[in-house]
Amino acid sequence: MEKHYAVIGHPIEHSLSPKMHKAGYEALGIVAEYHRFNVEPSHLPGAVEGLCALGFSGWNVTIPHKEHIISLLDTLTPQAKRAGAVNTVKIQEGQRIGHNTDGDGFVRSVEGELNGFKGKKAVLLGAGGASKGIALALAEQGMKVHILNRKPERAEALVQVIQREGGTATAGVLAPGSWLEDVDLLVQTTSVGLHGEAFPFSVQGISDRALVVDIIFNPSETAFLHEAKQLGCRTLNGLDMLLYQGAYAWEFWLGGQAPVEAMRQALKDELLQQMFK
Ligand code: ATR
Repeated sequence: MEKHYAVIGHPIEHSLSPKMHKAGYEALGIVAEYHRFNVEPSHLPGAVEGLCALGFSGWNVTIPHKEHIISLLDTLTPQAKRAGAVNTVKIQEGQRIGHNTDGDGFVRSVEGELNGFKGKKAVLLGAGGASKGIALALAEQGMKVHILNRKPERAEALVQVIQREGGTATAGVLAPGSWLEDVDLLVQTTSVGLHGEAFPFSVQGISDRALVVDIIFNPSETAFLHEAKQLGCRTLNGLDMLLYQGAYAWEFWLGGQAPVEAMRQALKDELLQQMFK
């Protein structure tokens, strides 16, 4: 029987997930459909009931529903519990299971470049929802995590969450400092750069061993990433994080191995198409 999946969010028009998942079904000859639904916050409970009633096998969840959906689910996986947020739901024997693949997706996107995590230093710029998932996953891999945020109390709060989970973390204000000379992985998780804006400070003086990541993928190179590249750092945008969170969601739903290369190509094609719309 044909399976149905979806992504729900608000707004959702620019989601690349449908093209990525459909390319995956095609590559492996899986009979399934992947839909995209714009769900306003006040309609979230009704939408979840509707998806269940319509026999959907699972769905992805994006902004602004990742936290609010938790109270509408039956159980959470350890990853979802840890992040306090859900990006993937699976319906199994009538049970609504909430999972989170964002953190593990990020880890997989950088592991090839980083050559081991344990004891290495990660600096995260920003302390919002995206930062939280990444910070917890990196701390779980044994990295020392330093979180810098414009409102330092949010960074402090995130440090406490990480420490409660047994990780090593410290907090600071969003500013350059001696951390630049001793960083293995620098991750930009704020929304600064989405519209071409410059980052609030320069990363001049950054260690040349640093891998620098901006989780923004459109534009493909933010001013922040551009500067890091000019300074000789290896750089990565957020497209691989999107790819691997999708691949893990796929595997959570369907088992086996997601056809990552087909999914990556679909993401690139769709991004190009959206650029010329
Ligand atoms: P998300 O879930 O996408 O991370 P969020 O929870 O709203 O979104 O968090 C946005 C992050 O971007 C926060 O760290 C925010 O900093 P504050 O907590 O100090 O608000 C950061 N951010 C957004 N705009 C910023 C700006 N112009 N300069 C610096 N940080 C900014």
